[in-house]
Amino acid sequence: MCGIVGVIGKSAKEIVLNGLTNLEYRGYDSAGIYLNDLQGHQYLTKTVGRINNLKAKMLPDEEGLVGIGHTRWATHGKPTVNNAHPQFDQIKRFYMVHNGVIENYQELKEKYLKGVELQSNTDTEILVQLVSQIVQKKQVDPFTALKAALAEVRGSYAIILIDNLKPDHLFIAKNKSPLMLGLGKGFNLVASDSLSVLDQTKEFIDLQDGEVGDITKNHIHIEKLTGEKVTPKSYQLKIDPSQVSKGPYDFYMLKEICEQPNVLRRLTQLYLDENGNPQVDQQITSVLAQADHLYIFAAGTSYHAGLVGKLLFEHFAQIPTEVDFASEAGYHFPMLSQKPVFIFLSQSGETADSRVVLQEAIKRKIPSLTLTNVPNSTLAREASYAMALEAGPEIAVASTKAYTAQLAVEAVLAKAVGMKLQHKEAHDFDLRHELAIAAEGIEQIISAKAKIEQVANTYLLPSRNAFYIGRGIDYPLALEAALKLKEVSYIQTEGFAAAELKHGTISLIEQKTPVIALVNDPVTADLLRGNIQEVLARGANVIAIASEQLAHENDDVILPTVNYYLTPLISVVVAQLLAYYASKNKGLDVDKPRNLAKSVTVE
Ligand code: AGP
Repeated sequence: MCGIVGVIGKSAKEIVLNGLTNLEYRGYDSAGIYLNDLQGHQYLTKTVGRINNLKAKMLPDEEGLVGIGHTRWATHGKPTVNNAHPQFDQIKRFYMVHNGVIENYQELKEKYLKGVELQSNTDTEILVQLVSQIVQKKQVDPFTALKAALAEVRGSYAIILIDNLKPDHLFIAKNKSPLMLGLGKGFNLVASDSLSVLDQTKEFIDLQDGEVGDITKNHIHIEKLTGEKVTPKSYQLKIDPSQVSKGPYDFYMLKEICEQPNVLRRLTQLYLDENGNPQVDQQITSVLAQADHLYIFAAGTSYHAGLVGKLLFEHFAQIPTEVDFASEAGYHFPMLSQKPVFIFLSQSGETADSRVVLQEAIKRKIPSLTLTNVPNSTLAREASYAMALEAGPEIAVASTKAYTAQLAVEAVLAKAVGMKLQHKEAHDFDLRHELAIAAEGIEQIISAKAKIEQVANTYLLPSRNAFYIGRGIDYPLALEAALKLKEVSYIQTEGFAAAELKHGTISLIEQKTPVIALVNDPVTADLLRGNIQEVLARGANVIAIASEQLAHENDDVILPTVNYYLTPLISVVVAQLLAYYASKNKGLDVDKPRNLAKSVTVE
């Protein structure tokens, strides 16, 4: 996934560059900008790497009253200058930025572009070359040509196109990849994410799949690819710009880790009344309560949140729950029960792998619920129901507060459905109180972050690999803890069911291999201590993170006591901080790890 931004009707350079900087979380392999001053001068600058490289490459006199920009997470073609966007046609008339994947680009290339000299190996260039061919051969206007080209396209796209013979227009199109219009006075903006241009406007229009537009500084025309006109409604985005600034923190990741106690408190206010009874849409509770099986679909950290959700739903609502990688289920659908309900967990609400499953659920008329941090996202809009994570914008690529928010909302749901089904476990679960304890517990962990940093420096920094081990609810947590550490510090880390190690993987344990043991499960705590001895006997450096009622004297981190099913809310914070400090103290860009992007809107 990539980030695109465009502006028409005011000085474009700074707005595009700032927009791209705010969109870097969507990918940062390469970047580019096209500017046109409407006086016959155009400027195109492209670079590999970050936006700062792009700024350094631009000449002082480059400016324009219309501009488009792109920051790329490479899908087709390596991160090179030629593959950076904007891509242009062979007569250098049309310039295009694109987020998404043109699945049938080879077919289009063979069918329409014989003899056309290509300068990149991107799918996007095929599209801009095709638009140019249609304009030249059919003598039609660029908007008509764009629609004709898109009629041939299979795939996902968010597009901004400029014709340098009509530079006072931005032509846009949207299918499966997010695209917003920002409305200004005497100018208009187009962006992958409204946060990227929040300093310019708070009034937005979300384009829908299959829509195309012709935008000038004073006029917005939107229609369906099928030709019917669309009259979209704009909305005011209510986000305080300070929510998207780092404040006193070195990185967004630490800021967002530290926001978690207040996220839990906000969710408590939102979803529980003063007596601790859930305040959930009755329709949602009823739909889930009639299910004979719940299916949770997600990716990455959200998948790990789903694994904890399974334990919550099965314990408090007593409904069998399956958790699947969305990317697998999309093409190898699970065997379904008689009365399934699908739950999608997604911070961004735009994960393409999850959208594939939702589309199939819609076709099969399976009720669906999305839990997401972006209320107007695709997964929220297309599912039968949606619930907000209310975690505030999560900018760091590594997801932290969205994960704990997902656990909290799953706990609320499990309690609500369990109470509707009159299960004692749900009724007796004092979730309001337990979430308050968890918020306090997180604050205690954060206040001990210097000790956690010391553990990271002593045991993790010198090592090329590491293990997290746990049993019971600590196993899904071990998976999430491992993802956090490896994705931001590049230390190869595996999360393991502790007893499984001895069935093969223990062969990897060498002198000083860091093994982080999670000890929150009372049923298996003694057995886990045995697993710890097994790795100690082979030279491992063991770091023990234990609930206080299960702790031993020499354990490294002691966790405050909270309901067993909420222990991940606290122990994950230790893992998040270990990952943060391992990355920071290796001198890495904690918020933007290599090869990654925040919202994976390609399959
Ligand atoms: C989390 O740290 C990762 N950045 C990644 O695994 C993420 O959780 C995954 O891509 C799913 O994203 P989503 O929650 O927006 O669907």
